[in-house]
Amino acid sequence: MRHQHNLFQVPRALALLGALSLLGGGCGHPSTGTNTGGTGGMTTSGLGGNGNVAGATGAGGGEVVVDPNGGANGAGGTTPTACADDPNQQHALPYTPGYTISANATSLANAAVQSMSDTQKQNQLRGTTIGQYNDIFRSAHNLSDTSYADTGNIKEFQFSDGPRGVNLDAVKTNGSQGFSTVFPVASMRGATFDVDLENQVGLAMGDELIASKRTMLLAPTVNILRHPAWGRAEETYGEDSFLLGRMGSAYVVGVQTYAPACAKHFAANNIERNRDNGDIAQMDEQTLREIYGRHYAMIVRDGGVSCVMAAYNVLQVGSGQALNCTQNSHLLTDVLRNDFGFKGMVISDWWAMPGGQAPAGGTATESSQARAAMSAGLDLEMPWNLNFSQLPAVDATQNAAALHVVTEKFRFNVANPNGPLGLLPPTTGFDSGSFSITNNDAHIALAQKAALEGMVLLKNDGGVLPIKSGGNIQSVAVVGLSVPWTLKGVQTSGSVNFPVDARSGDLGSSRVNMDPAKAIGPYAGIMAAAPSGIMVLPGHDLAAAQAADFVVVVAGLTPHDEGEDYTIKPDDSDRDASLGLDGKTGGTLQNSFIASVAALGKPMVVVLEGGSVIDVSAWQQMVPAIVMAWYPGQSGGAALGQLLFGQANFSGKLPISWPKALSDLPRFSGSDSAPSSLTTPMGYYLGYRWFDTQGKIPQYAFGTGLSYTTFDYSNLQVPCSTVTKGGVVNVTIDIKNSGTVAGDEIAFLFVSWPNSNVTTRKAPNYKELKGFKRVSLTAGQTKRITIPIRVSDLNYWDTGSNSWQIETGTVKVMVGTSSDKLTPAATGMFTVQ
Ligand code: BGC
Repeated sequence: MRHQHNLFQVPRALALLGALSLLGGGCGHPSTGTNTGGTGGMTTSGLGGNGNVAGATGAGGGEVVVDPNGGANGAGGTTPTACADDPNQQHALPYTPGYTISANATSLANAAVQSMSDTQKQNQLRGTTIGQYNDIFRSAHNLSDTSYADTGNIKEFQFSDGPRGVNLDAVKTNGSQGFSTVFPVASMRGATFDVDLENQVGLAMGDELIASKRTMLLAPTVNILRHPAWGRAEETYGEDSFLLGRMGSAYVVGVQTYAPACAKHFAANNIERNRDNGDIAQMDEQTLREIYGRHYAMIVRDGGVSCVMAAYNVLQVGSGQALNCTQNSHLLTDVLRNDFGFKGMVISDWWAMPGGQAPAGGTATESSQARAAMSAGLDLEMPWNLNFSQLPAVDATQNAAALHVVTEKFRFNVANPNGPLGLLPPTTGFDSGSFSITNNDAHIALAQKAALEGMVLLKNDGGVLPIKSGGNIQSVAVVGLSVPWTLKGVQTSGSVNFPVDARSGDLGSSRVNMDPAKAIGPYAGIMAAAPSGIMVLPGHDLAAAQAADFVVVVAGLTPHDEGEDYTIKPDDSDRDASLGLDGKTGGTLQNSFIASVAALGKPMVVVLEGGSVIDVSAWQQMVPAIVMAWYPGQSGGAALGQLLFGQANFSGKLPISWPKALSDLPRFSGSDSAPSSLTTPMGYYLGYRWFDTQGKIPQYAFGTGLSYTTFDYSNLQVPCSTVTKGGVVNVTIDIKNSGTVAGDEIAFLFVSWPNSNVTTRKAPNYKELKGFKRVSLTAGQTKRITIPIRVSDLNYWDTGSNSWQIETGTVKVMVGTSSDKLTPAATGMFTVQ
């Protein structure tokens, strides 16, 4: 099944939630604050751990400044206490409002469904007319029926994709532009590890969605990056379930301040190849719940997400039946509704029902496919009124499905065909002529902040960065190749002019158009940031590099190298044949260009653009500095310029383990070894868990990212020696900026279970991420940060009892700067009782 997504159509809007955030020291939740959705804003009271922070000043967000001249700092000498159950355990982390709906919305939805005819109910569950490619982003409603009699006077949903901005390209009218704010891709936003920022990005997208009169955002993409070769790697936050759950919740809470969000693609959709041909994700129950499900559970329970999209792939759990995700009652009902407690609506991915756009077998097949999906827990088939055109007579299941859909419309105030849409009026405007967002300068500035926080400095030998102005450096060349690409689908050919272009990512369903007048690519950004006296020149060849005192080489991937299936020829959307530059062309153009620049022996940096890992082995040893710039969005060049000249400090860290070679990773797809195989076994261990337990050393570990300053960790405090299963352990640690310039540090908290009885936890060096925190520090400053552990997040899926369990016994806590740098000094223990 192929589809285009390159077409038009229009509008609707929505909704709210505040985020509770409770941080502070000690056990339980010592303070409660209300974060109305902005940055920071978390109330901090109480002090870190059981120690004292003399002279501490509140710094917000679970951090306090430690006065070096103050009194005792709490190191040693603390009396371990017990952490008891905390009734507000869930809210110990910010962006955890859960599912909220007004009583009024609930009663309006109930009344509306009760008064609907059977056809009106079924029209809540359907897409639009079969074959209409220009009408694939809304649910059923006959546009000539201005009274909305066909849907019971309830407005249809109007969808837009959203992982990196509101996609107005797919729905724009002929000749219009469809500009909206282009944020960095999600893999880059994952690299910020900044939940407050991600919440703001969600708010901005919710705002623009409502401004453009659309009513549901098809985002976040929260598929685990099981393997960095996935063509859609850029759409997700990284390889760890806890990270995805936290970032996804922050984003959803932001979007849902205005309008409903749809978490996708449930579940285990992480291969493009054969996605339309019934590829089978095969795993055991524990892997499904903990690795492929945990983040959805968080986004459902913490984030209160409105919608979940069932994925294209087939899912086989253990030796059970292999069932399409859209018809998988274990997935959609046992796991999503009954285990995770999901209350919203489930939609199919576009033509994700068996048979795709043209199921064989006529109406009889459609009818049986529709029954299977409906009884499994699918509420709405998208985008066409295809199988669901053959729904049987309305029964209790369909009544429930209609109520799910209609409730979400009332919940977010998008049900009224004539009313203002959404829970809040947008701050941005919309120009219907150009079909573009207006008044979005604040969002563009936010996109720049996200780019600034997400760029990762991977190598900086000899402190070649920041570029030193004055002295020997009077000119900077910004060089790179212009690399052509061809695609099918939305756009068929083009090229990436690496030194110049502002990059947004692939051309699949998450594509977003930036206003060229407000786009800043590498050259423009570096030029804007260059101090007076430094000449900045763009170029495509060695001569340009030769002529300069410092060389910035911009290299990376094109929309052919990685992207969504339908834009690239089948079997070529993933990068499992090569993670290198020019992997799809088979050439070594960019690799050899970098090598020849390196041979000039000048100070230089290689800036990489791409959605996930890029193999640097061909030249890594030859160049002094490497920056991973991802697809940094419309203001990425501005952020890059500031960072390269040291006007801002690098702080992004890798949300993906970066292998030395493809052969260091588990197999990408079952078809790697047997081309006709549709089955891919998906193991429990991936990402850092794979490297740790296999004893393999990655090129760059999860959490790697350098800075222009240095940070010292000390004084780890675990506030209690024992904790009950319903408790919270507020771990604190002091982080000092021991260098000479300001910088942000991201601290990671991992746990392990030294005496575990759980087989998966007994693997050598096994550990799991259970917390992270970004903190800003001026030169010389020390802050004590708090990283709460919700003991409920330490659960595991017990296959024996077929239930979640929290293991009693010792938990080891490790805090540090990356997954491979968790110092013994920063180790603590507590016991779960
Ligand atoms: C993608 C989804 C997207 C949908 C609508 C599908 O091809 O997998 O992520 O939301 O199209 O554009």
